[in-house]
Amino acid sequence: MLGAEALGVGIGAIGTGFMGGIHARAYRSVPWIFPDAAAYPDIRVVADLRLEDAQAFARRFDIPEWTDNWRTLLGRSDVELVDVCTPPALHLEIATEAAAAGKHVYCEKPVGRDLAETTAIWEAVRKAEVASFVGFNYRMAPAVILAHELISGGRIGQVRQVKVSFRTLFGGSLQAPWSWRFSREQAGCGALADLGSHVFDLALHLAGPIARVCGTTTITVPERPDPARPGATRRVDNDDAFTALAEFASGATGIFDGNRVAIGSASELTFDIVASGGAVRWDMRRMNELQVCFADTPAAEQGFTTIQTGPANPPYGRFIPSSLGLGYADTKVIEAHRVVDALARGEVISPSIGDVVAVARLIDAVQRGGWVEVDA
Ligand SMILES: NC(=O)c1ccc[n+]([C@@H]2O[C@H](COP(=O)([O-])OP(=O)(O)OC[C@H]3O[C@@H](n4cnc5c(N)ncnc54)[C@H](O)[C@@H]3O)[C@@H](O)[C@H]2O)c1
Repeated sequence: MLGAEALGVGIGAIGTGFMGGIHARAYRSVPWIFPDAAAYPDIRVVADLRLEDAQAFARRFDIPEWTDNWRTLLGRSDVELVDVCTPPALHLEIATEAAAAGKHVYCEKPVGRDLAETTAIWEAVRKAEVASFVGFNYRMAPAVILAHELISGGRIGQVRQVKVSFRTLFGGSLQAPWSWRFSREQAGCGALADLGSHVFDLALHLAGPIARVCGTTTITVPERPDPARPGATRRVDNDDAFTALAEFASGATGIFDGNRVAIGSASELTFDIVASGGAVRWDMRRMNELQVCFADTPAAEQGFTTIQTGPANPPYGRFIPSSLGLGYADTKVIEAHRVVDALARGEVISPSIGDVVAVARLIDAVQRGGWVEVDA
């Protein structure tokens, strides 16, 4: 598949669930969508708990080798990048051992289960002088890239207020079965880590550092059907929802929430930013659109305009030559390209695991309750 002269970045993939599949599909798409990439991703081996799952995944994605022991990836000289798509309980062990083995690390959010783990992973990556990347792919939607450009370019003035919300209904029902996501031991926090990590990443990415935060969390569905024991239930011991207020270092204020038991909400990730000279709004359900309002338009014409992103909004045009629309999985293709391209060029890009330490600090502060000063 790869051109003879193409540089391949050797990847060892760990975890073949939802994200493992999205990552593998993204890697496979990079040569078609970004034929001029400095390097192409080349998945050399995949690991999962059960050998048959790893093997089935390898067949699906044309990966030459598979294993049920992720540590074997670390000893291979043809693996340069370790891609971590397991539940968070394994991230510390895998990421720190991978870094110590000299492998670059591409880890899914929320990285560690808590601030201490995320900081330890960042320390390991820094000490080993390897590159790191985190899967905050909503940043990659062309409309979000445009929002970032408008804000950082000063087009809407000083940011004054930031609202970011992520509501969904895990499993599609309040009685969806128990899984690792409902376990503090497996996942760390619940909605606060899973959804909140995206919320805080977008807030920091778009509006800069946060100085103080005050939040609270709740468990609203304390028991769920245990898939391993028909008729029995299993305890949920991490939060179903969080709410937080914040003050940015710039003086702007923030309103944030996440909810994984939000009846009627299907992946409603939204932001709404009010600034001195305008405002922007985005909703993942209409991910190709950005709503923009500029204060310098005549009062009689003022209001939100919908920009439907298309080929004029890079890298949209790489996918399709008209405004027919990109989807969630395309954001991972953009991310995968950025990861391998940065590795081949030796460039440092964001979000790195270092950037996620700031997100982990906010998650930690919300759990403590009351106003907490955050080391921005
Ligand atoms: N960026 C995003 O939008 C996004 C979306 C969903 C999930 N995620 C993140 O991706 C990660 C994985 O989530 P998921 O939804 O794919 O979970 P999942 O349950 O669908 O898949 C997890 C996979 O890890 C495997 N695994 C477990 N223990 C293992 C071990 N010891 N060795 C090898 N494989 C092992 C499981 O067998 C499974 O295949 C989490 O950190 C999650 O927060 C990110």
